[in-house]
Amino acid sequence: MERTVPMEKFRADFPALHQTRNGLPPVYFDNACTTLVPQPVIDSINEYYTRYPACGGRRSHHWFASEVTRRINRSRERLAEFVNAESGAEIIFTLNTTQAINMVALGLRFEPGEVVLISGAEHNSNLLPWLRLQQKGGLRVEHLSAAESEQFDLSAFEDRLRKSPVRLISLAWTSNVTGSTLPAKEIIAAAHRHGALVLLDGAQTVPHQNVDVRALNVDFLAFSLHKMCGPRGVGVLYAKKEFINSPPGSPNALEPVILGGGNAIDTSFENYQLLEGPERFEAGIPDYPGQIAAGAAVDYLLSVGMERIREQEENLNRYLSARMQEQYEQLGWLEILGPQEPERRGGILTFSVRRPNAVGIAEDLDRASNIMIRDGVFCAHSYFNDRYGNTWLHPKTHRDHRMVYRVSFYFYNTPQECELFLDALNAIFEERGYLE
Ligand SMILES: Cc1ncc(COP(=O)(O)O)c(C=O)c1O
Repeated sequence: MERTVPMEKFRADFPALHQTRNGLPPVYFDNACTTLVPQPVIDSINEYYTRYPACGGRRSHHWFASEVTRRINRSRERLAEFVNAESGAEIIFTLNTTQAINMVALGLRFEPGEVVLISGAEHNSNLLPWLRLQQKGGLRVEHLSAAESEQFDLSAFEDRLRKSPVRLISLAWTSNVTGSTLPAKEIIAAAHRHGALVLLDGAQTVPHQNVDVRALNVDFLAFSLHKMCGPRGVGVLYAKKEFINSPPGSPNALEPVILGGGNAIDTSFENYQLLEGPERFEAGIPDYPGQIAAGAAVDYLLSVGMERIREQEENLNRYLSARMQEQYEQLGWLEILGPQEPERRGGILTFSVRRPNAVGIAEDLDRASNIMIRDGVFCAHSYFNDRYGNTWLHPKTHRDHRMVYRVSFYFYNTPQECELFLDALNAIFEERGYLE
């Protein structure tokens, strides 16, 4: 490899990497699904359950509760600093990215026929919430093509915005299928020039690079802690203050979707008054240890360095992509999806294999070598149906068989793991007779 950042020392922090099966260590290449968890985050979760397993927030105010409240407030502030929000008052805790996007879809008021524009490579989490509203007659969903999303043409995009109004642009900032990242800053500036709001699905971006919501001027940003060394079941909806505290009934008011304990300041048998601030959107007892550990995950990532994380993933991807292109692309049946330049795919290398019975390669890698990658459609059926036609998953003959596999890196992966993967993959291809 050209240049590797000395990241190996961080591997010591991940207990999951220090086990073996059949005498071999794990090679974890499924980080776009969820990442491994470092010891400080595990310790933070354990600490809650062992030392102060109580209610916090506005509920109780005793010894244990004060510990919980203090740590959650700190965590919210750390998350705000992490994405450069004005303050923790713009950070709403959610369960995950999916819930955060649904909160915008169901919380904003859409007039019938208003347009929501999405990309051509959306995860179902940024597709289904809009399709449901469209089916109910609430809005119209428009999408860019996959090619438009990969080779983003800003002037064509602005032409579209000029043509007729778009209420909201909701985009996978980085595609979980191809790893391609959209030019968010330019998109947001264009959207605002034409009166559209912007929601970024940052599930595959926020864990991998520095993010500055104020420099971007984005209206909403959704992300999940479990994709950034954090706890499962905790996500964030960043929303500009004006949405969080908007008076009900104002045109851009964001209404909380779930109501109950924790988001009201007063109630009677006839009426209720909601709190201001992010708690307005956080009804019910949350995952306190998870929310606290979110702060520990941010501390941990910052100790590694977001720029170093980005650089390490890019180096690994450049290395593995070059080796795969060199070994297989001229054979004609293996294709790397998305931009061919690895620098434009972050930590994601998705490839399709079009060979008889191309299924089961991920299982073979796992069984023989403990190498964990993802196969399938990565919750992006629409992308693949659009690209390959909607019968591709059920081909008429076994000769048409195409399967898609995704390798996704995080900073703790190494070039040696790439070598193990290449050797194991080649052995599988040989065994299946693909190389004859
Ligand atoms: C681009 C993108 N959006 C949304 C999601 C959904 O994330 P979560 O399951 O954490 O809600 C994912 C998860 O893989 C994703 O990759």
